[in-house]
Amino acid sequence: MRTVTAEDLAALRCLWPAHDVWDGHAARAATGEVSFLAAWLGGEPVGVALVQWKGCAGTAARSALPDAVEINHLHVRDSHRGQGIGTGLIGHAERLASSRGVARVVLAVEDDNDAARGLYLRLGYRPTGLFDECVYSYRDDHGVERWASERSESLIKDLGSVSSPDSGGRAGVGNGYPGTTMTGRRNQEP
Ligand SMILES: CC(C)(COP(=O)(O)OP(=O)(O)OC[C@H]1O[C@@H](n2cnc3c(N)ncnc32)[C@H](O)[C@@H]1OP(=O)(O)O)[C@@H](O)C(=O)NCCC(=O)NCCS
Repeated sequence: MRTVTAEDLAALRCLWPAHDVWDGHAARAATGEVSFLAAWLGGEPVGVALVQWKGCAGTAARSALPDAVEINHLHVRDSHRGQGIGTGLIGHAERLASSRGVARVVLAVEDDNDAARGLYLRLGYRPTGLFDECVYSYRDDHGVERWASERSESLIKDLGSVSSPDSGGRAGVGNGYPGTTMTGRRNQEP
């Protein structure tokens, strides 16, 4: 698990083609808006996640939980699911957040994603009753852009129990900022 480097980005483009998704994540990471994390197994990229430092993507969650950061775009390759990679990415993101002085982290989960919800509850996230509608675009198997919407509930975890940050960072970064907009797909794409 590590923050994506320029070298990683080249490998991602080559080994896990996802249209322009990686470049979009990398561009946001370059501004400091997000951290772009990837999990690797034997040189292969097997999972990704973003830590969104400018607060929650959804407006209800952002206004009710202004001090929280959100982990989103969490995605593990089909062939590698159920092996602890998603758990590892979430743990890495939590330690990174903790190292930046962030006390609370949010994971938003779609209404129909019971499996992911079960995982998040098991990892200590709890329901907030805060729901946001997300309109997103994605590319179908033929590369055609399509639009859809979904409702997600924000689940929250206090990071008091997260141990030994594994990465240095700037103290104080991660408080919510107004004006964050929902962009692209929340979690449906890598
Ligand atoms: C949700 C997801 C990130 C979990 O990653 P993972 O590496 O499979 O998760 P882990 O191996 O750490 O944990 C496995 C748990 O995840 C849950 N899970 C969710 N979707 C799963 C899937 N398709 N296959 C296997 N486990 C899945 C299971 O409940 C499992 O719990 P268990 O260990 O009690 O059986 C991954 O399944 C995924 O990328 N799904 C598609 C995209 C998505 O739904 N992202 C999250 C949006 S909120």
